[in-house]
Amino acid sequence: MSYNIVKKVKIVPVVKLDSAADAVDVVNALTAGGIPIAEITFRTGAASEAITLASENCPEALIGAGTVINAAQAETAVKCGAKFIVSPGYSEGVNAFCREAGVLYIPGAVTPTEIMKVVDGGNKIVKFFPASVYGGVKAIKSLGAPFKDVVFLPTGGVDNENLKEYLSLKNVIAAGGSWMVKDSLIQAKNFSEITRISRIGADIAKEI
Ligand code: 3PG
Repeated sequence: MSYNIVKKVKIVPVVKLDSAADAVDVVNALTAGGIPIAEITFRTGAASEAITLASENCPEALIGAGTVINAAQAETAVKCGAKFIVSPGYSEGVNAFCREAGVLYIPGAVTPTEIMKVVDGGNKIVKFFPASVYGGVKAIKSLGAPFKDVVFLPTGGVDNENLKEYLSLKNVIAAGGSWMVKDSLIQAKNFSEITRISRIGADIAKEI
């Protein structure tokens, strides 16, 4: 189910919250802008509470956890309601937990060897991070030749300016990033701006 929603929406916002109290407003702002998905990252201590609040109060949105670097974090995230787990790299522990729990795992990989490990682990989606540093659109296109069954989630340097270029690739399932949920917007509680920027992205995604 999570896989199909990611495929349909085509944008995965990377949400970093300093205060869990902002979670519901941010997710509602994204959803109002046509992006009913949030990857709430474990880069702050607010992550687990934010995932709980968003999962309980925003039933129309798909809530996942990001920057999950070990199995304990993955377990916490899923207990709090996360429906998918994203890592910057590949963790066998997180992979084993997600398979057992039946939760979509999106691990990071950028080299052919790393991608082979992710595929061996039974995963279909590879987070390609940081995309702008590791060759962007050109690299993902080239990786499509040997890895025909892999689809990529580029993140890192994606924004409304280059979104179309990424989403136009056949082997890109969705693009991720924080361009619509910048720290400054969350701190200023400028939720209408989050919705406005999201809407531009959602409209681009819809045209693909
Ligand atoms: C991620 O974890 O996917 C990235 O930090 C998101 O990239 P961005 O912040 O450059 O959008």
